[in-house]
Amino acid sequence: MKKIPKEVIEEVEKLREEIEYHNYRYYVLADPVISDEEYDKLMKRLIQLEKKYPELVTPDSPTQRVGGKVLEGFKKVKHSTPMLSLDNTYDENEIREFDERIKKGLAGENVEYVSELKIDGISIALRYENGRFRMAITRGDGTEGEDVSENVKLIRSVPLRLRKPLTLEVRGEIYMPVEEFKRINEEREEQGLPAFANPRNATAGTIRQLDTSVVAKRNLDTFIYYLVNPQAYGIETQWEALQFLKEIGFKINPHSKLCKSIDEVIDYWRVWTDERHKLDYWVDGVVVKVNSFRQQERLGTTAKSPRWAIAFKFPAEQVRTKLLDVTFQVGRTGVITPVAELEPVQLSGTTIKRASLHNFDYIKEKDIRIGDWVFVEKAGGIIPQVVKVITELRDGSEREIKPPEKCPVCRGPVGKLDPSEVAIRCLNPHCPAKLKKALETFVSRDAMNIDGMGEKLIERMVDSGIVKDIADIYYLTPFDFAQLGSGIGQRTIAKLLKEIEESKKRPLEKLIAGLGIPHVGTKMAKILAENFESLEDLANASLERLMEIEGIGEEVAKSIIEYFRNEKTREIIGKLKKAGVNMKSSIVKGKALRGLKFVVTGELDRWSRKEIEEFIESLGGKVSSSVSKKTDYAIVGRNPGSKYQKAQKLGVRILNEDEFIELVKERAKETGEKVEFPEKKGPMTLF
Ligand code: IVH
Repeated sequence: MKKIPKEVIEEVEKLREEIEYHNYRYYVLADPVISDEEYDKLMKRLIQLEKKYPELVTPDSPTQRVGGKVLEGFKKVKHSTPMLSLDNTYDENEIREFDERIKKGLAGENVEYVSELKIDGISIALRYENGRFRMAITRGDGTEGEDVSENVKLIRSVPLRLRKPLTLEVRGEIYMPVEEFKRINEEREEQGLPAFANPRNATAGTIRQLDTSVVAKRNLDTFIYYLVNPQAYGIETQWEALQFLKEIGFKINPHSKLCKSIDEVIDYWRVWTDERHKLDYWVDGVVVKVNSFRQQERLGTTAKSPRWAIAFKFPAEQVRTKLLDVTFQVGRTGVITPVAELEPVQLSGTTIKRASLHNFDYIKEKDIRIGDWVFVEKAGGIIPQVVKVITELRDGSEREIKPPEKCPVCRGPVGKLDPSEVAIRCLNPHCPAKLKKALETFVSRDAMNIDGMGEKLIERMVDSGIVKDIADIYYLTPFDFAQLGSGIGQRTIAKLLKEIEESKKRPLEKLIAGLGIPHVGTKMAKILAENFESLEDLANASLERLMEIEGIGEEVAKSIIEYFRNEKTREIIGKLKKAGVNMKSSIVKGKALRGLKFVVTGELDRWSRKEIEEFIESLGGKVSSSVSKKTDYAIVGRNPGSKYQKAQKLGVRILNEDEFIELVKERAKETGEKVEFPEKKGPMTLF
């Protein structure tokens, strides 16, 4: 093992402390003192050192907040003390009764309350040892939860190190900010997945993800509001506990209020009933807590909930209106979303005329019909949605909502990309509704990399009609750009045209990636470019030929066939070719062994295993590690393993090295290829 210099250990330690401090400034205090660039620089340096000295990596290092692990499951863990839930009420009178009960329980003593917002997320317990993050546990059934540490570690506002070396447990809420909720749902709708009903479901779904990279991409956040065993730290009240939590590194909600009387609590609730939509997270009420811990103890708990606290919920915001009609919107990936056209109605300060119906499964499940009286609610205070039908008010004139048979924009065919999808889509890859997105993909860095052609310019080009498909990019003239009006100067135009010209030379895999064939991303595009000589070759491929290629399954193969079958696709390819866009592959593999499966066993004289495997693959053949009926040839060297016997048993053709060379030569003659056998390199490896 390398000896780690003392200076490195010290630097790593210092970097971690600094990064954790800046996290605290940014995520907890919302008051950063360095720029993002400076922060990134610290992080980069730490990553660099940990890469060089992996022994120094600890689970609480800030570099561990990246995700990428795939978990097998979540371990069950007992809670240190039960995680209780709260009694709740919607009613002012019941709140006054709560206050009376408390006063009676405390023999008329003076009581202060802390009013906190009730965050609509999921509760979590966080354990720390000597100031280091150890474990995060979900509520579960209150006595036993699940260890979701790996996922919770990815939430930036959860400190991995406290600002004091304490051993303690805190509890609070993990939530998903409304913007994030909207972003994820839009993404899901575009992918044809069912949308999350509310941020809490989205949070719960995220925290129980086994793929931690999904969690890392979703910006969850926290508010901590509970310290287990506060008296151990000399803390007497909930109000002090909140300040203490903030001091040692936790994010607390800034809107909590210390109230001297129940009237103040009710005022707080009234204010937030109106103001809740201004927050960037969901709250569903106010939690009222007796401030003094000594008084809390005297009041005690029932089996389910503490007597010293209550949830004072906000009234649900719903209105009744009539569903006049249903229209369809086509999204950028072709997903068709049904939209309710409503009789205009006021809902928490705005007039609502339209509401989301999500998808056709949702309509069916709720049995929503045109002409129905419905309840409309604002999800997250923003997006109105139809939540319920008042079936009692039906008079028989209501009409069923049928999915459109053709795309409402291009009249193209509609359907599901695969049967498990909820959404139906416009299947025409060239539907104008999808054009902007298609152009964005085409010009993106992973595809034709046309610098300077951003979202805004694309929007203007499409809206003005100068670009009607992706190939039109190559026919743009300075005049076309000038027509787009202000903001585009001569120099920009010249630069853009130069970029466009240069992009014609991009390798075939970039072009394929840019076409936006469903299910074909950059990786798949590379596989295709390795297996087809040109775009035409790919366009004419049969389903069988596509499916023979390692890494291409039926779904992808079908999608490719479907794409190239489209007449508009053919037209676009013709236009691209005429414009001089490169269509030849520079990484295509040989054909000599195409479609053949090999297994290699024993020691070879000429090559190492890696060499022969790469050689076979470079000629389009496949190498697998085990023999099956599908194996075409077993190449057998000295001291072969059990694969040899199995090959014999299954009647697989057996070749020695010389016979293999003969086979290659023969097949190369047939395909007209010139094959160079690799030189033997280095010492022979045994296998
Ligand atoms: S205190 C024993 N404070 O509401 C006291 N809970 O049913 C436990 N919640 O499970 C909770 N915001 O997930 C408390 N400021 C807040 C809260 C809050 C949200 C959740 C929590 C709990 C549920 C109550």
